[in-house]
Amino acid sequence: MTTAQKLSFDVQLSDHARTAAERERVLADPGFGQTFTDHMISIDYTEGEGWHDARLMPYGPLSLDPATAVFHYAQELFEGLKAYRQEGGAIASFRPYANAARFNLSAARMAMPELPEETFVESLELLVQTDREWVPTTPGHSLYLRPFMIATQPALGVNYPSRTYRYMVIASPAAAYFGAGRPVSVWLSTEYTRAAPGGTGFAKCGGNYAAAFVAQRQAVEQGCDQVVWLDASEHRYVEEMGGMNLFFVYGDRLLTPALTGTLLPGITRDSILSLASDLGLTAEEGRLSIEEWQSGAESGELTEVFACGTAAVVTPVGSVKGADRAWTIGDGTQGPVTSRIREELVGIQYGSRPDAHSWVHKIC
Ligand code: PLP
Ligand code: COI
Repeated sequence: MTTAQKLSFDVQLSDHARTAAERERVLADPGFGQTFTDHMISIDYTEGEGWHDARLMPYGPLSLDPATAVFHYAQELFEGLKAYRQEGGAIASFRPYANAARFNLSAARMAMPELPEETFVESLELLVQTDREWVPTTPGHSLYLRPFMIATQPALGVNYPSRTYRYMVIASPAAAYFGAGRPVSVWLSTEYTRAAPGGTGFAKCGGNYAAAFVAQRQAVEQGCDQVVWLDASEHRYVEEMGGMNLFFVYGDRLLTPALTGTLLPGITRDSILSLASDLGLTAEEGRLSIEEWQSGAESGELTEVFACGTAAVVTPVGSVKGADRAWTIGDGTQGPVTSRIREELVGIQYGSRPDAHSWVHKIC
């Protein structure tokens, strides 16, 4: 249950924060998710008591009993969003309340407590304000924020969900997830299934990713960057990628797989559905088989395909490979519609384009 009390954060600043020179060394080449800022957020939850002990504290390891539920049964969920350095130096995030809502959607599916949306957003603001020097100034770079929640009860029984939880936020400076504008190659997974009806596909829980690594490794062994997931019953209809949603471009018409419950409701996906009409494109949610994908690409009717997500932003898909088929899309490079959508979205996020949908959330 969401508890209504307003939490106040105890602030414990690090006495071993990195020096400006150390930070600049990291920011010169941040990669993705490798180095973390000086602080983190922690809030505990106890059944009957609600959320308590909200803290901003020095970043560091946790000490947990080996019997802690999350280690055994993966009762866990996470979110991902970014803080962007705007022109002029201010820092803003993008649609954080949408992440807060999805966090609670995932929590409900995982039998975990909801966190008040205000507390979620406040926790991000406090961490970003404290570690603001870690928000990169390099164009295209950002500070990736990773809120997550784990089941903390030290007990091995599975007759009831954990009665205690911890919510945390960590932050990591990030460059492009893939080289900016570099088309990715994808592997169609017909051997494995990511999510089935009634399962956890729509939730952002760690278990979905744990189950995906074997197929992602197979994709890499096949010389591809990413795995594409297909529906569970026929392995025929396109769902999404390992950490991104997909859009198919037919001239000035966009098609993205509908949210059937087995794929993640991406916030970038939702934003692009709205941006399409701003850009004079039509956008629809529907269903696309791998045969339609291949024949559309081969006839030229399907002009571009791109993947989208917080980490990947908007990334062109250049080529597709499956167990018994392979094809390229267009000439295998980034197409004009993908470029326009990417520029518009990134422009809003970094404050160089008008924010007609009020998506930008100023932090400091
Ligand atoms: N699909 C999966 C499986 C993801 O992990 C992500 C990343 O968050 C997305 C889609 C895209 O979601 P969003 O645009 O909210 O980042
Ligand atoms: C994100 O874009 O935030 C994601 O969650 C992708 C990630 C799993 C690397």
